[in-house]
Amino acid sequence: MCGIIGITSIRGNFREPIGKVIRRCLERLEYRGYDSVGIAVIRGNRIEVRKGKGKIAEVSVRLNFDSVDGETAIGHTRWATHGKPSDENAHPHTDCTGNIAVVHNGIISNFLELKEELMRKGHVFRSETDTEVVAHLIEEYLKMGYKPFDAFKAALSRIQGAYALVVAIAQEPNRLYFARNTSPLIIGIGHGANFVASDIPAFLEFTNTVIVLRDGEYGYIEPGKVYVEKDGVPVNIEERIRLISWTPEMASKEGYPHFMLKEIHEQPIAIASTLAGIDEREFNEVVNAILNSRRVFILGAGTSYHAGLVGDYLFTSMLGLDVHTFISSEYRKYLNAVNDGDIAIAISQSGETIDTLVAVRALKERGVKVVAISNVIDSAIPRESNYTIYTRAGPEIGVAATKTFTTQLVVLTVLALKLGLALGKITSNEYRGMIDLLKKTPDLVQSVMTNLEGRVKALSIYISKRQSAYYLGRGIGVPLSMEGALKLKEVAYIHAEAYPAGESKHGPIALVEEGYPVVFSILDDDNVDALLGNVMEMKARDAYTIGLVPEKYVGKFRDLLNVTLEMPNIDYRVAPIVYVVPMQLLAYYTAVARGYDPDRPRNLAKTVTVE
Ligand code: AGP
Repeated sequence: MCGIIGITSIRGNFREPIGKVIRRCLERLEYRGYDSVGIAVIRGNRIEVRKGKGKIAEVSVRLNFDSVDGETAIGHTRWATHGKPSDENAHPHTDCTGNIAVVHNGIISNFLELKEELMRKGHVFRSETDTEVVAHLIEEYLKMGYKPFDAFKAALSRIQGAYALVVAIAQEPNRLYFARNTSPLIIGIGHGANFVASDIPAFLEFTNTVIVLRDGEYGYIEPGKVYVEKDGVPVNIEERIRLISWTPEMASKEGYPHFMLKEIHEQPIAIASTLAGIDEREFNEVVNAILNSRRVFILGAGTSYHAGLVGDYLFTSMLGLDVHTFISSEYRKYLNAVNDGDIAIAISQSGETIDTLVAVRALKERGVKVVAISNVIDSAIPRESNYTIYTRAGPEIGVAATKTFTTQLVVLTVLALKLGLALGKITSNEYRGMIDLLKKTPDLVQSVMTNLEGRVKALSIYISKRQSAYYLGRGIGVPLSMEGALKLKEVAYIHAEAYPAGESKHGPIALVEEGYPVVFSILDDDNVDALLGNVMEMKARDAYTIGLVPEKYVGKFRDLLNVTLEMPNIDYRVAPIVYVVPMQLLAYYTAVARGYDPDRPRNLAKTVTVE
């Protein structure tokens, strides 16, 4: 889960040193890992490497990345897997001669055998990483007389595992080699420069013309050329060139202190764009595929799983479908149960989460049709699925998923409504009313932010001093609570758990003591009275009760709540899209109050590409 970038350009293309350009590209990849950072620049007939432990802002100043000039460079920001974060383990890694430099995202599973073999041949290793074997393997093949591209291919034939690689070889100062197997890698086609990176925002400042590489592909970029091969055969890439509608501003903070806050605030536009981008033909195909299936399986990881649970609730309670929702990495439980009469909905904002990808492959092998819901065009999960619906949230850089969650909910709700209409479970009037309501959600989200942001910020001071919190709800409020708890946990490092409110008496309430924060999601559904009882129980134990309450029930709950966050009166089926926003803000402001950087939560990376 690292970020890699390679740039090769014609002389004078950037009007600033390439070290500065690559530093900026790395800043946009930092969400993928931030243990250490490094760059390698081809200068004359040698490679200069600068790298170290720490975040980009600090390391790039300490090692003066901005001053390094050249035309061809690679860079890396690391999330450690093999070898602790240290200066030595930071990428790029070089061979014995220092003329080959490699950056890598993924895991080379057979690196120990290769390392022993290479050490027996006299290679000296300087890091504990799996990556370094690649540099020494290429060196070995060059010594045997291979040409650089052949040496690169020979090295690829020896390595196993998941990888995205970019390699610079000093003797070819205007070329960079790349290879993809499982870990994402995207080529950016610019003017006077070409790029290869783990994600599009890395080079969005320079180009929005991209080719998403596929597993097993490798090749090279030069300033005016892109060459891709698979299994020794050239790949026709012309038809795979895509123009991305994302702008450089979308991938920058635009005055916000953090991407997370910016992305929370972008939700009205992200929701509106997703609704505007609905392709009726695409949705109808998916609706028909679901109608022709026996059962529906929904899978995802983290936030995407929570979106799946909201979808599950709608599909089950509103439509009466036979739905099974699971966390992607637990797919094995279902393999004996599924068959070609089933359909699966795989949710992944990045489209690259390995747990979901592996599950999709296993389900497809058993004949299950797969619908992907993703925010990234041409990413692995959509490519391997039978149908894809894209959310249109724009790039999400903050590690915590925010706008991609609400847009996933939009897609799932529209899907549920279309299915409801087709199945005769809702009338066309009801359908139109609900679609109209969805169209109002951008405004509702905006007004909730305008009205509540200050109060949530004040509340965050209280929460920031606590060690633990509960999030309780009923019905569709349960996955909503799970998402609220995950946000607080991941960015503010406060233990937070979500339960169905009815379950709290079966154990969790034992932890509640004076001042213990409990966040209730109260929706306009038939759970209101039962929730009133649950709030009373918590209040009786001196909990610090916080409620997201529809305006019409505020009076009913007022005396029982320490903090009332007034929400619009809105159909419960659409409510999660609006209700999650104060919870996202609460997590964000609590992280800031505790002095943490919400964009770079410890131990986490935006996209998990190793199992
Ligand atoms: C969300 O805030 C998390 N960072 C994480 O749980 C995330 O949702 C999960 O890794 C799934 O990612 P995906 O949607 O890209 O598959």
